[in-house]
Amino acid sequence: MKHINIAIDGPSGAGKSTLARRTAQELGYIYVDTGAMYRAIGLYVLRRGIAADDKAAVVACLPEITVDIGYQDGVQRIFLNGEDVSGSIRTEEVSQYASAVSAVPEVRAHLMGLQRSLAARSSVIMDGRDIGTVILPDADIKIYLTASEEDRAMRRFLELREKGQEVDYDSVLENIRQRDWNDMHRDVAPLRQAEDAIVVDTSGIGLEESARLLRDTIEGMMPYVV
Ligand code: DC
Repeated sequence: MKHINIAIDGPSGAGKSTLARRTAQELGYIYVDTGAMYRAIGLYVLRRGIAADDKAAVVACLPEITVDIGYQDGVQRIFLNGEDVSGSIRTEEVSQYASAVSAVPEVRAHLMGLQRSLAARSSVIMDGRDIGTVILPDADIKIYLTASEEDRAMRRFLELREKGQEVDYDSVLENIRQRDWNDMHRDVAPLRQAEDAIVVDTSGIGLEESARLLRDTIEGMMPYVV
């Protein structure tokens, strides 16, 4: 049977990971969170004490970095040089580092092979910023998942607080704005909607309704791809 690849791109905090993971489970596809890969490299750079914007130093340490993904009970785990860093990559500090290192072309090239080989092997839902535009330009279905800045900041704020991290809403909003700007204005593979992507906007609706909207959108496209 033909592999079906679904690309989901969009800005930070639009709910891509949660919604893509759920939809992948429902469809029996492999879920690939490419943001986690950039976060793993960001974490390595942070631990090494390298400034996030020191591109030469970031590039110089790439040969020391191997990023892999694996699955435990169907849940993606991310490995940095063999260490499971799935928990440690989910901090605001690592978010900033991930955003900075993702603007470095060599970092993107370092991860491209892994991303493409995963999609070549199985039916995937892959989420990121450049999946429909650069990594899988021939993806069968492309979704651009978005929501207002304020909605995205509020979701991130609640999520971080639930994890016991001390954060205030204004700084989370500021962080979201800064990352949007970085992701959309970098020279290489900036975040943008692919011409053939369908927009799914989850502003003002909750998780369940968003999940339904995404699933209905994908199901609506299926007759055209199989
Ligand atoms: O989706 P996320 O917040 O986990 O992503 C972390 C950072 O990685 C984000 O600032 C953008 C970057 N990223 C990217 O440039 N390309 C991707 N395909 C995925 C993430």
